[in-house]
Amino acid sequence: MLSRPRRNRKNKAVRGFAQETHLGVENLIYPLFVYDGKGIKEEVKSMPGNFRWSIDMLLPEVEECLKLGIGTYVLFPAVEEKLKDKTASYSYAEENFYLHILRKLKETFPEICLMTDVAMDPYSSDGHDGYVNEKGEIVNDITLPILAKMSVAQAQAGADILGPSDMMDGRIGYIRHALDEAGYSDVSIMSYTAKYASAFYGPFRDALDSAPKAGDKKTYQMNPANSREALIEASLDVAEGADFLMVKPALPYLDIIALLKQNYDIPIAAYNVSGECAMLTAACQNGWLNFEKAMPEMLMSIRRAGADVILTYFAKAYAEMLRDGKIGKW
Ligand code: PBG
Repeated sequence: MLSRPRRNRKNKAVRGFAQETHLGVENLIYPLFVYDGKGIKEEVKSMPGNFRWSIDMLLPEVEECLKLGIGTYVLFPAVEEKLKDKTASYSYAEENFYLHILRKLKETFPEICLMTDVAMDPYSSDGHDGYVNEKGEIVNDITLPILAKMSVAQAQAGADILGPSDMMDGRIGYIRHALDEAGYSDVSIMSYTAKYASAFYGPFRDALDSAPKAGDKKTYQMNPANSREALIEASLDVAEGADFLMVKPALPYLDIIALLKQNYDIPIAAYNVSGECAMLTAACQNGWLNFEKAMPEMLMSIRRAGADVILTYFAKAYAEMLRDGKIGKW
């Protein structure tokens, strides 16, 4: 045998030369759930190790994560039911605690990079990402100006990257236009380009109490059976001015990550969602999988598929393992 692939696996040094993919803390975005009030650090039941934070408790946590090298955070608000309405008006209200938290984080940590979520669901009394009419339909074009107002308010509060996760048609262009008009042409858009109508968002909706009150999200989120449709969404997002294309969830959609990576030149992001986190955590808590081995392998698979950026609830755990020298060459 002239060719023996095992020679390139014979020791750590050689395996290091042959390693094709690297995953550093600079590739990660850490999602955090925020809550109004004081002294709150409440664990999300289905996502052990993840919390709903009030700002006072969040500041030291973010400080610790910044020291670990995590530079970017995506924040999701858990909004009290009484503040929700049909038009998600609290999303851009002056007194919105989420906007105050953004300001506070920027003021405390000027070097931080903040990403926000743009969609109506956390603020909507219907629990949908778009406006729901009397017939129960999600109305695309009524939703767009609401998303634009929310976007400008978030940009004003200091967001560096907006993450429209609503899957309405035309929203990227509409938001880009509104941002530019308001003087925020430097604010980036990471579009949730191929966001599937997935069962893997369950724990997230528990964390935010944001599940739809009626119906499901199948008229706007994508059918899990489709991949070519992701190319349609991607070409629209690129044409409309997106800076990043995201695939969500990540693990059951690695083929879609690879497809977008092959077809587009802007950076590709993937969201390793709440259900993926819950699944791994549960298996590890039962002693069925080894967390320190399985978690980095999971993230590496997403990176290998083509993700330049990974949004993951494991960002802090991964950064701690890097710091402790537990992630190195195979
Ligand atoms: C809502 C939104 C969702 C997630 C991010 N933004 C849930 C949904 O669409 O119902 C899911 C994230 C996760 O599951 O970790 N616009």
